[in-house]
Amino acid sequence: MSEFKSLTLRVRWDEAEFDYLDQTQLPDREVWRTCRTHEDAAEAIENMRVRGAPLIGAVAALGVWLAHERGEDTRKAVQRLRNTRPTAYNLHWALDRMERTDDPRREAQRILEEDVRTNKRIGEHGARLLPDSDECTVLTHCNAGALACVDWGTALGVVRTAVQQGKNVHVIATETRPVQQGARLTCWELHRDNIPVTLIPDTAVGYVMTQGEIDAVIVGADRIALDGSVANKIGTYQIALLAHEHDIPFYVAAPTSTIDPNAKTADDIPIEHRPEEEVKTVRGVKIAPDEVPALNPAFDITPPELIDAIITEKGVIKPEHVASALHSTD
Ligand code: MRU
Repeated sequence: MSEFKSLTLRVRWDEAEFDYLDQTQLPDREVWRTCRTHEDAAEAIENMRVRGAPLIGAVAALGVWLAHERGEDTRKAVQRLRNTRPTAYNLHWALDRMERTDDPRREAQRILEEDVRTNKRIGEHGARLLPDSDECTVLTHCNAGALACVDWGTALGVVRTAVQQGKNVHVIATETRPVQQGARLTCWELHRDNIPVTLIPDTAVGYVMTQGEIDAVIVGADRIALDGSVANKIGTYQIALLAHEHDIPFYVAAPTSTIDPNAKTADDIPIEHRPEEEVKTVRGVKIAPDEVPALNPAFDITPPELIDAIITEKGVIKPEHVASALHSTD
């Protein structure tokens, strides 16, 4: 195989380079950028031109492969890539695999191919949870879709599979301040696939829940601790609290590669803090006085008691069974 193509990546294995879709430019423009070094890959992750836990892991794996092809010290490349974004566990999972292999090209190929297969299995398990009723409305936060992965998606992979099975699913996408992955990315990819989607401001979640319009919430995850605590995009926790209050099932869709075997509880999950400029601007336009400080935690933790189930490629599990899912074979 000399080329790999997906929604987010185009890899030319024989030329030792790959292109990625620059997500900072969506939805206005589809811009593809080329990586020839592990530093290119590290910068793409740091600047969120690629983002979403599984895609961060895949791009990091490709970065190590590029370092190997160039005869560089792959241990240094791994170290550089590990320090790009602190919360997504898939980054470490992929880099650990790249460290253990003596065939970096083959291992990177496997990681890319496995991602799509894994997401399709998550989709099959998750679609069973969605009702067959006339129309089923799923609220999601941030972007846990094909754009957050090599392809297909986790939370949006569940929606895609359900639609493929003939279910009539309508998605409510939260805008997801500060960098608006919901508005820019979830709306872009669902609209592209003709899946009905309605955008709401983050502040409207409570309102739409009081209207009885939501059948289920499905979100992704950046890191899952062994006690079932889930780190995901900032704002997830408050959506989980509202879902609990309104008796709406709250599901997390994630591959088992998001489970950190070294994180016993939420206290062991590092939370990324990003520049305050992201909060004080909207797509480059200033919205707050320069003198006022802003806080910009990129993720929060949803405790296991607010999660009805975690949809993995191995099946649908209760949050208290995360540790056993990690070690079970599928
Ligand atoms: O900061 P981001 O855009 O990388 O955050 C992404 C999320 O929070 C996703 O929900 C998560 O990575 C799961 S993606 C399948």
